[in-house]
Amino acid sequence: MKVLVTGGAGYIGSTVASACVDAGITPVILDNLSTGSAEFVQDRIFYQGDVGSAGLLARIFAEHPDIEATIHCAALASVEDSVRDPLAYYRENVAKTTALLEGLLAHGCHRLIFSSSAAIYRADGQPAITESAAIGATSPYGRTKVMAEQMFADVSASSPLRVISLRYFNPIGADPRMRSGRPGGRSTHALGLLIQADQHGIPFKIMGNRYATRDGTGVRDYVHVWDLALGHVAALRRFDALLPPHGGHRYEAINLGSGSGATVRELITAFESVVGHRVRVQQVGPRAGDVPGAYASTDKAGELLGWKPTLSLPDGIRSALEWAASEAAKQHLLVPAQT
Ligand SMILES: NC(=O)c1ccc[n+]([C@@H]2O[C@H](COP(=O)([O-])OP(=O)(O)OC[C@H]3O[C@@H](n4cnc5c(N)ncnc54)[C@H](O)[C@@H]3O)[C@@H](O)[C@H]2O)c1
Repeated sequence: MKVLVTGGAGYIGSTVASACVDAGITPVILDNLSTGSAEFVQDRIFYQGDVGSAGLLARIFAEHPDIEATIHCAALASVEDSVRDPLAYYRENVAKTTALLEGLLAHGCHRLIFSSSAAIYRADGQPAITESAAIGATSPYGRTKVMAEQMFADVSASSPLRVISLRYFNPIGADPRMRSGRPGGRSTHALGLLIQADQHGIPFKIMGNRYATRDGTGVRDYVHVWDLALGHVAALRRFDALLPPHGGHRYEAINLGSGSGATVRELITAFESVVGHRVRVQQVGPRAGDVPGAYASTDKAGELLGWKPTLSLPDGIRSALEWAASEAAKQHLLVPAQT
């Protein structure tokens, strides 16, 4: 089986592509390298370019007519940047997804798996979020995902297209074989900041401690990126059983998370148990717009995909540390020796 993986040079797309390779599925990568890494695609079939390019899609499908499905990971993916430059997010994540859909329909590629996000849900204090929870994104980034999902539901209802939207919670860690991981400089989530603070010997800031949670600090659902990647392989394998080519059911949204939440303090405790030392922390006030947080209900993923996460929070922390160390070692090799 061959699949087109857009954004396959990025953190999640490259891990998904590795999981495909390990499962005997051949990924064909399309990525413009705007944030992705050429290193992650060096052993892959790779096309550098834009998902919105009709000409490039025509070339890819002419050279690989046996592509059976698309996994659409390409997007701009920073909540903070989307507030600063919403137009870029609507262009890259919505307009170019529209162009991609037209191309896929034109080339007869009717199975689509979409990288959606927990950022689409309204943060209304419900701890275990099911797929039927209220939608209400709080950032332009989240709204681009809502719009894309709505477009897929509408288009699949009136065309041969069938779509599974996988709503990721907070991916951590790296490919177990260290083929790729999250570029260190772009970590804005709590674990990335914790690793950076520990490495630089500066205190890690706990933002807010008066939320209605177990210990007052915010809750997040951290899911190992390898589990996430395996969820895509499961979705590919079950695609036609779930959404039969000629059936009436043509769109499905499924959460991929760990199924349990960790508070910031629990994350710190898990981190300390992995590294074997205490980390310096500083309690500060909550960030504007931050929410108590929630975690995924993963029952639907279990039922429909036969998927459940297998790796723990400490596994994800160990993996993220291993990746950070391998990146630091590469940087060290790149720095010219002093003479
Ligand atoms: N990382 C997370 O926490 C998270 C959580 C939920 C959902 N997601 C979604 O998962 C997907 C992958 O995210 P990621 O964390 O791997 O981000 P990433 O930035 O590492 O990967 C995105 C990839 O898409 C490529 N890309 C962007 N725009 C493109 C375009 N117009 N044409 C071709 N390539 C393009 C980039 O070069 C990059 O390689 C995104 O859709 C993101 O919204 C991410």
